[in-house]
Amino acid sequence: MPEAAFADWRARVEAALDHALPAVDQPPHRLHAAMRHAVLNGGKRMRPLLVYATGTAFGAPAQALDAAAAAVELVHCYSLVHDDLPAMDDDALRRGQPTVHVAFDDATAILAGDALQALAFEVLAGAPQDPRQRVAMLAELARAAGAAGMCGGQALDIDATGQAAKRGQGHVSLEENDSAQHPDRQHDPGPFSFSLADLERLHALKTGALLRASVRLGAIAAGADAGSRAALDRYADALGLAFQVRDDLLDIEGDAATLGKTAGKDLAQAKATFPALLGIEASRGRLQSLSATMQEELRALPTDGTWLAALARKVVERSH
Ligand code: IPE
Ligand code: IPE
Ligand code: MG
Ligand code: MG
Ligand code: MG
Repeated sequence: MPEAAFADWRARVEAALDHALPAVDQPPHRLHAAMRHAVLNGGKRMRPLLVYATGTAFGAPAQALDAAAAAVELVHCYSLVHDDLPAMDDDALRRGQPTVHVAFDDATAILAGDALQALAFEVLAGAPQDPRQRVAMLAELARAAGAAGMCGGQALDIDATGQAAKRGQGHVSLEENDSAQHPDRQHDPGPFSFSLADLERLHALKTGALLRASVRLGAIAAGADAGSRAALDRYADALGLAFQVRDDLLDIEGDAATLGKTAGKDLAQAKATFPALLGIEASRGRLQSLSATMQEELRALPTDGTWLAALARKVVERSH
């Protein structure tokens, strides 16, 4: 019954987050209120669920996974606060509520994000694993959050934003040699040179890195063997890419009431997305092949992959 386990794990991480976050009645009140607003607001908690699912599959008790689960969610929530800022995606709605900079102000949102990231590492430093495992987990999360991970991906996203618009079309063709269809390019190919490989790298970093770290933290905490960890990495890479492809599709197919965030923003802002590069049908097809990859990698594990398989399905089928 994966849903019962998920409900239990969600309740655990909610409690851990609530406990870790500073109290609003302590100063600086506004910063603390903004941090709580950013975190305790009904996120899906997909990254904590991956920590619990992986760790549990390899024999760790849930209480040994709470710190890692809370830490990845704190980094994720910080990334959302900054992602929504006017200087980045300029979004007013997140998880069905006003974004932090709208509910508070830009400076408070920047500081709340900074403080959430620091809190993530403080929480992880208090994890109950032995010191070697703890350092390995801290290094893992730091790499995933930084320039070689999420921040690097966000930088690539910002660089790529508007590239599709420069070509003057919504659906950007992969074919460079389509000047018959787009005669203007014969004379001015423009600055757009964004390939599918570039987009996969962007997605792997901005979204994949933290999802992969979630799986890896669970594996480190549980002391999973090297062979299983390699299979888990391949599962997590497919899951990370699938997660962002689904996010890109939902931006087109979803509505604000279901998504809890404004729909249609990617096209309006000319974001580099899977549907923009490949079209909707090909993006859906890619999602299905990633789904097959995930289930195949899980079959190779020497342990019960039921929860990880259920999370893979959630990522591919989710409606928000
Ligand atoms: C949204 O992440 C941002 C992306 C990385 C695509 P989620 O879809 O996990 O958002 P929450 O945490 O459930 O709000
Ligand atoms: C966000 O990607 C990725 C990170 C926050 C690191 P998006 O910009 O597509 O996420 P949403 O759609 O705003 O949730
Ligand atoms: Mg963004
Ligand atoms: Mg965004
Ligand atoms: Mg998006």
